[in-house]
Amino acid sequence: MSGSPPDCGDDIDRIMEVMTDAFAPEFGEAWNRRQVSDSLLLGGTGYCLIGTEGSLDPAPEEPTAGFALTRAMFDEEELLLFAVLPLYRGRGLGAALLTAVIARARSRGIRRMFLEMRRNNPAGKLYTGFGFTTIGVRPGYYRTASGQRLDALSQELHLTDN
Ligand SMILES: CC(C)(COP(=O)(O)OP(=O)(O)OC[C@H]1O[C@@H](n2cnc3c(N)ncnc32)[C@H](O)[C@@H]1OP(=O)(O)O)[C@@H](O)C(=O)NCCC(=O)NCCS
Repeated sequence: MSGSPPDCGDDIDRIMEVMTDAFAPEFGEAWNRRQVSDSLLLGGTGYCLIGTEGSLDPAPEEPTAGFALTRAMFDEEELLLFAVLPLYRGRGLGAALLTAVIARARSRGIRRMFLEMRRNNPAGKLYTGFGFTTIGVRPGYYRTASGQRLDALSQELHLTDN
């Protein structure tokens, strides 16, 4: 598992390789390299990588399949970005990565995790399976490339209850 900030640009390269292919352009959710590197300069922001073979903190020989970007503040942590390359989905890598993110949060004394997702994102099934529940709705918060408005769902997970 990786920490924050990366001590060289290699891990940002690995994150960007996934970012480029994992997010459907229609939703405008992908961040650019500058956004990622700037975010990692902020205290509390960190990331986890998962390799194509399922290794957390994969060695350079193992291509990266997914990443999570998180920001912690006091005893709360937000899942900012979470993605697995399309080719490697449906093999449990997303669940393994989320398990690692939650374990790391627990070990650091985080008591609540948050995330925000567009309504009907298939990822919601994964989050629900981990115990995330919806605590708020922002109607029409996201706007797709084609102009459609989508609700944002705010979700939380109490780590102390699990
Ligand atoms: C969300 C995401 C990271 C899941 O990665 P993954 O490696 O496919 O996840 P897993 O294989 O561990 O799936 C775990 C469970 O989540 C559910 N799930 C995950 N992605 C799903 C999808 N696209 N469609 C339907 N169910 C999905 C399934 O129920 C699955 O359980 P199962 O294997 O028992 O059926 C991946 O789909 C992704 O990168 N999506 C695009 C980026 C994105 O939307 N990120 C979330 C932003 S909030």
